[in-house]
Amino acid sequence: MKHILMELPYAIDALAPYISEETLQYHHGKHHAGYVNKLNTLIKDTEYEDMSLEQIIHQSSDAIFNNAAQVFNHDFYWKSLSPTKTEPSALLLGVLEATFGSLETFKEAFATAGIGQFGSGWAWLVVDEHEKLTIQTTANAHTPIEHNLTPLLVCDVWEHAYYIDYRNDRVKYMDNFWALANWEHASKILESKEHLKLSTTTVPFCNNPDDPMCEYLDEMAHEGTTSS
Ligand SMILES: [Fe+2]
Repeated sequence: MKHILMELPYAIDALAPYISEETLQYHHGKHHAGYVNKLNTLIKDTEYEDMSLEQIIHQSSDAIFNNAAQVFNHDFYWKSLSPTKTEPSALLLGVLEATFGSLETFKEAFATAGIGQFGSGWAWLVVDEHEKLTIQTTANAHTPIEHNLTPLLVCDVWEHAYYIDYRNDRVKYMDNFWALANWEHASKILESKEHLKLSTTTVPFCNNPDDPMCEYLDEMAHEGTTSS
């Protein structure tokens, strides 16, 4: 199976001024296209040749994994952006508020996670293995679907995503991400998972003692709960 570069779901200048046409020419036309082309070269005449992207991600390693996962992650990133303003559905908003305290608290925690990701990687909103909304970061090409988690929203924090427009200012890039975040896409995914037992009543956000972000995020969640 030959993998194809996903077309952008909007015009190449549609995300300006937050993400410029020049950035998309490089990010989509060079970086993303490069992963697709490299993947097709690497899998030719191998056991991976007829697999879907998801199958390759689950079964491969090293360069084939990296290129396949980067294709998936970029496909998802383009869909996580919208040139027109969107809002989370009532269901998604309810679960976000129950989990994080408020939408604003979630945004702060998501940005903090993305800014704190050392080096190249991704910040995700996912439905985790416990059917809870969770913020995760992944390094390099890693992706939540390796662990069968359901991503709802992603922000690419590789420098190639923002260097042309923001130089090294990842904080400003992540701040402007909210002007483009595609809540409609995230909401549709959540609502397609009818079997999930998502709670819209407030629960402690973070209960993993091994997660260094936990204490900080718990404080933010509780602040959001008490201020709302
Ligand atoms: Fe990227």
